[in-house]
Amino acid sequence: MRNLDQHTITAAVHERFANTPDARLKKILHSLVQHLHDFAREVELTEAEWMQGIEFLTATGHMSDAKRQEFILLSDTLGLSMLTVAMNQQKPAGCTEATVFGPFHVADAPQYAHGEDVANGAVGVPCLVRGSVQGLQGEPIANALIDVWQADADGKYDVQYTGQQEQRARGVLRSGADGRFHFKSIVANAYPIPDDGPVGSMLRATKRHSWRPAHLHFMIEAPGYETLVTHVFRKGDVYLDSDAVFGVRQSLVADWVQQQDGSYSLDFDFVLNPIAKSAATPVK
Ligand code: BEZ
Ligand code: FE
Repeated sequence: MRNLDQHTITAAVHERFANTPDARLKKILHSLVQHLHDFAREVELTEAEWMQGIEFLTATGHMSDAKRQEFILLSDTLGLSMLTVAMNQQKPAGCTEATVFGPFHVADAPQYAHGEDVANGAVGVPCLVRGSVQGLQGEPIANALIDVWQADADGKYDVQYTGQQEQRARGVLRSGADGRFHFKSIVANAYPIPDDGPVGSMLRATKRHSWRPAHLHFMIEAPGYETLVTHVFRKGDVYLDSDAVFGVRQSLVADWVQQQDGSYSLDFDFVLNPIAKSAATPVK
């Protein structure tokens, strides 16, 4: 194949991938090439702009390590992460909706009993969190694994403090026999996503802000149910309609209620989606 031009090169690249044995990989590459080429043609991409794009992606890679995933941040701020969640996490009415996972989850967080304080020294206004884990028919789900993590009053997760070893404002607990749980923590505040890298440059160049509305992260696992990755967002937050990563769902917005002593309480019930029987491993 020679003398390819802007009209014929796309078909030539498709043909080069034609022998890809994995049908899914073949479909993804075909579509990727088609959209990339169409994009370049549509915006009439110059060579200087192409190089700028390469440099941007290179900087994104250089910014990424075990603690900082700038590519996920890029996906988040382009709406790709939430689009993927929205497509793959469609649940029956009545189930708690999912949202983005975010980069600040830590596996094997400390375990807590009901009523204990997961803040563990993180700064913030005290808050009592109460809730339940149920199935779609309202059946209590006992012993569900509830993983919770949040930023402190300064808008930072423990992992964002250099040198801090202790895990703060995160923990794992189990629902009781009645599906209920409660723990102490601190009030969630709005915070900016890390903006000292290429993604921050993109946000500034496009006059976008980097803020996420106040939220508490939850990941809830129970046998026989789909794992739920979600947040509870704080009602009244000014960033609910302009979340930098497009993650807000109205059904996840809840009231943090101020108590007489100045502390807060939050109540939220989670409804998990049962794993479809047909999807279960057949009994032999
Ligand atoms: C978070 O909520 O922790 C988060 C999500 C996406 C990007 C950055 C932070
Ligand atoms: Fe967060």
